[in-house]
Amino acid sequence: MATAAVEEQELDPSLPACVNLISAILAMEPSDLVISHARACGGGSITESVQKFIWDHCLSTPGDFYAPYLKIFLKKLISEVEFDHGYVLDYLYELYAQYMTSFKDDSFGKRDTRVCKRISYIFPDGCSELQSKQHSRALVFTLQCSLNMLEGDTGCSIWPSSLFLSELILSHPKLFSNKSCFEIGSGVGLVGLCLAHVKASKVILSDGDLSTLANMKFNLELNHLNIETDMPQGSENPIMVKCMHLPWESTSESQLQDIVPDVVLGADVIYDPVCLPHLVRVLAILLNRTKSDSCKPENGDACDESVGRCKVVYNGRADGKSKEAPVAYIAYVIRNIETFDYFLSLAKQANLDIMDLSDSLKPLNLLRYMQSYNQTHVKLLSITCSNRVMGA
Ligand SMILES: C[S@@+](CC[C@H](N)C(=O)[O-])C[C@H]1O[C@@H](n2cnc3c(N)ncnc32)[C@H](O)[C@@H]1O
Ligand SMILES: *[C@@H]1O[C@H](CO)[C@@H](O)[C@H](O)[C@H]1NC(C)=O
Ligand SMILES: *[C@@H]1O[C@H](CO)[C@@H](O)[C@H](O)[C@H]1NC(C)=O
Ligand SMILES: *[C@@H]1O[C@H](CO)[C@@H](O)[C@H](O)[C@H]1NC(C)=O
Repeated sequence: MATAAVEEQELDPSLPACVNLISAILAMEPSDLVISHARACGGGSITESVQKFIWDHCLSTPGDFYAPYLKIFLKKLISEVEFDHGYVLDYLYELYAQYMTSFKDDSFGKRDTRVCKRISYIFPDGCSELQSKQHSRALVFTLQCSLNMLEGDTGCSIWPSSLFLSELILSHPKLFSNKSCFEIGSGVGLVGLCLAHVKASKVILSDGDLSTLANMKFNLELNHLNIETDMPQGSENPIMVKCMHLPWESTSESQLQDIVPDVVLGADVIYDPVCLPHLVRVLAILLNRTKSDSCKPENGDACDESVGRCKVVYNGRADGKSKEAPVAYIAYVIRNIETFDYFLSLAKQANLDIMDLSDSLKPLNLLRYMQSYNQTHVKLLSITCSNRVMGA
């Protein structure tokens, strides 16, 4: 048996390369990407201290992981070290051998298996809120997802646009703090976790698929958020997240009008042309604060209909202050340009104003370790209700 030649130094887990390595493993990044982090951590090769580091931080509690993932990762790790003529730590061999015998089939990803991915946000140095925890994985969310991207009408996996919106929310918290936020097609619920983190005054998530909705609720509980029941909102529990079943096709106008959000969010919801007219209808109602009955003189708010249909302030505010017009932030990856153009034309017909914010409102890069996600591939739109007067 070979012996470790040199006693190597322990790696400092707060080194950026080490933070990236742990974060990538916890997020179940593809093995070859994790291997490149491991190499970076060891200055080019997967040294014994890198292996020990991986063991100490991830593998010593393998129960937290999806075993077939670790099996594939270990296999790759061991073969890379052997390829470099390096020394593989005994306990890595042992763990791999254990997996070899207990998981004979390599059906990883083929069934509708649920796994838990941990998404770590790594804040840059000097980020005021997190100064004491530089380069640490200061914020981590655990999300149960399916390995089958189509499960739950695609809502049980994490799509790049929700990673993008999550970075946007954490980078520009003021756009969402103390605002009533509503998300359509929320999927696994990541955006809602971030909204609660930056203290949105209200968070309502929604989806049209019931199994996705159940998985979303599971994730909120997993991350210790309270799910709103029909009970009145208690002030001792400020972070309440509500989940709604909201299929765009069948949700009535009055149900949508009851929501009254300040901010609407949507990640990767523009892809199925059949759904788009319904999606645009939902957005148009959510963003239209003009209510046919809001302009009665007795309701006390300034209400100047001459400013146009969509600019009229919303009624019923005790402080008499007018709310800003609601805005939707829609993040998307263009997969089919015709589908996207169809969305734009429907939005125009519905009197929605669309702005491309991709170049003006950029999030910080908080998920740098996640090489399977590239922030620059996601675009961002803001959508507001047009304030042009009808017929003008
Ligand atoms: C591609 S996934 C995106 C999920 C999540 N926002 C993300 O980015 O990770 C699309 C989501 O929209 C939901 N969805 C699709 N069509 C819908 C419809 N007609 N009504 C309501 N939700 C719908 C799906 O259930 C799914 O959760
Ligand atoms: C939150 O918004 C309410 C109403 O808009 C306002 O009265 C309150 O001061 C705000 N709180 C914070 C912390 O900004
Ligand atoms: C907004 O709602 C009002 C009242 O229901 C309606 O008259 C108006 O056409 C709506 N505007 C748009 C852009 O849909
Ligand atoms: C992201 O994609 C852009 C454009 O495709 C590319 O230039 C860039 O190198 C990618 N970034 C990363 C970190 O992979």
